[in-house]
Amino acid sequence: MGKNLTRKIVEAHLAKPSAMKPGEEVFLRVDQTLTHDINAVMTYLAFEAVGLERTQVECSVSYLDHNLLYLDNKTPDDHIYLQSVAKRYGVHVSRPGNGICHAVHMARFGKPGKLSMGGDSHTPHGGAIGMLCIGVGGMDVATAMTGVPMRLKMPEVIQVKLSGRLKPGCNAKDIILEMLRRVGIKGGLGKIFEYVGEGAAALEVNERATITNMGAEMGATSSIFPADGQVRKFLKAQQREADYVELLPDADAEYDGVIEVDLGALEPLCACPHQPDNVKPLKDVEKKKVQQVFIGSCTNTSYADVAKAALVFRGHHVSEDVSCTCGISSRQIYKQLMRDGYLEMLVDAGVRLLEIACGPCCAIGQSPATKGVAVRTSNRNFKGRAGNPTAEIYLVSPESAAATAIKGTFASAEEILGDELSILADIHEPEEMPVDDSMIVQPLPEEEAKQVEIVRGPNIQPLPVPEPPAQNLRVPVSLKTVDHITTDDITPASAEFSSMRSNIPMMSQFCYHRYDPDFAKRARAMGQSVIIGGENYGQGSSREHAAINPMYLGVRAVIAKSIARIHKGNLINHGIIPMIFEQADDYDRLEQGDELEIVNLPEQMRTKQVEVRDITKDVTFRVRLELSDSELEVILCGGQLRYLKKQLENRNESGIGEE
Ligand code: F3S
Repeated sequence: MGKNLTRKIVEAHLAKPSAMKPGEEVFLRVDQTLTHDINAVMTYLAFEAVGLERTQVECSVSYLDHNLLYLDNKTPDDHIYLQSVAKRYGVHVSRPGNGICHAVHMARFGKPGKLSMGGDSHTPHGGAIGMLCIGVGGMDVATAMTGVPMRLKMPEVIQVKLSGRLKPGCNAKDIILEMLRRVGIKGGLGKIFEYVGEGAAALEVNERATITNMGAEMGATSSIFPADGQVRKFLKAQQREADYVELLPDADAEYDGVIEVDLGALEPLCACPHQPDNVKPLKDVEKKKVQQVFIGSCTNTSYADVAKAALVFRGHHVSEDVSCTCGISSRQIYKQLMRDGYLEMLVDAGVRLLEIACGPCCAIGQSPATKGVAVRTSNRNFKGRAGNPTAEIYLVSPESAAATAIKGTFASAEEILGDELSILADIHEPEEMPVDDSMIVQPLPEEEAKQVEIVRGPNIQPLPVPEPPAQNLRVPVSLKTVDHITTDDITPASAEFSSMRSNIPMMSQFCYHRYDPDFAKRARAMGQSVIIGGENYGQGSSREHAAINPMYLGVRAVIAKSIARIHKGNLINHGIIPMIFEQADDYDRLEQGDELEIVNLPEQMRTKQVEVRDITKDVTFRVRLELSDSELEVILCGGQLRYLKKQLENRNESGIGEE
């Protein structure tokens, strides 16, 4: 049988032979890495700590794109550190104002068939050009930069057959919301979604990117489209046609499952609070008064997205009760929209144009009002994601967002444009984009780079390093959570909190701040403790601070019903043992404050089965470690940094960083 696209790319990057069976651990050579400002300081501190002279991958890029609100010294301290450390180690820097990492990376660096690892959960965005892009924690990016192969559980590959064409007024957002409606927020765990069919072939690259980007919301390892004529057209518009290679699945390719979606049957959809899979037809959403509309984020602000929103706004005005902002994903898109008159349409309609940055998507500005209804084109609607846990966030397409801003309540583009709806179908990505890489700082030659002084302001604090597991553990439960805890719950987003990410002693004081404001104090007082989690613990953003902060507060293990993929990796990297209940009802019995005991912990861990005694309740229960052998070694070693240093010490001519 033939090979699917994913297997072709995985096979081309294997660092050692593998049958690539789903669930099996594979080791992959990484071509490109991507980091962004609010997660990256820890990545580069870790890279500095391993003592190499230069990034070992073809291309590493550091994006300064998330937090551009310099409220005080902290964020500028971070940015100056990131710029100087990038210069020192041969990393490109995309300066503030150049654009959001995923949009810029795909446009300016992405290449079909390459393997990219990014310290951000929406890294799969680049799958739109036939590249395998995987979101990981910052420590994994640091590891990739050393040239050590990436360990990955070989995912199942699901074929998603798209047929038909989207109707005017429908957007690629409606395709991914339909996927979320069907598959759910856990349905992509351990899977890569590979989109094929005539419906897929008709989608332009930026439409594909909305889908690959939000594959993260299904928990998927990645999502990918073939590198075909649409990709050639996209790269040509970026003056990079030479980087194009055709990459298609074989006609008789095997898959581990199939999903079929008829694009022609879709209607405008809406993800309702507080999970992206709570999807309803937009027409069925209760007509509440909307307080805020945000058209922005990496997900849905391509040229065509914003141009379509502008056409909906043309001749109309934002409702007087709505605050409507637009944040465009890159400087080149901004310029092209400006040239073609679409920004003027937005301004005429009363839309407030924001800086080119992530901004409101991760609560850096534009928080909704108390109990406000916020309608956004971004990718996450978790409680508190926009900076105000009392608000409700609804996710829709740019066309629907524009109509909603005009009406002041949920509306589709058809309700505004009526018979003229078909004008939206005429909007396409430009055949030529304004290419100007003057906001990308190129790496220095190696000898020159060695002279660069790394600048560390007071906000740059050392990276905490965990200890290997103790022989015996007797610890209280510092927190018991509900299901679907997000990394936003653990380490809140916002301009204020994001600026603390380089300073763990400070930031850890706000761990679980919005979920349980007393947690940090309590965990600190306990010295060491365990967290009890429900289903899908740690879903959402890849931010590894959701592991580093608890580790710094003494959390030694998380025992949960299930743990999200990237967060599990972050726990392992930072020395917190991820444990899964053998019996889900043991979760019900446990309470915050219970005293737990585990004897001979390292020996039990090697069996991947651990017996835990609840001394308070006088019961014993079992947990399992869903870890590969190398992941187990990482934890036993005291986290990825210690493990990586050992690997690099042992590295010899026969294999760089071989496991
Ligand atoms: Fe930025 Fe939001 Fe995308 S924080 S990278 S715009 S998901």
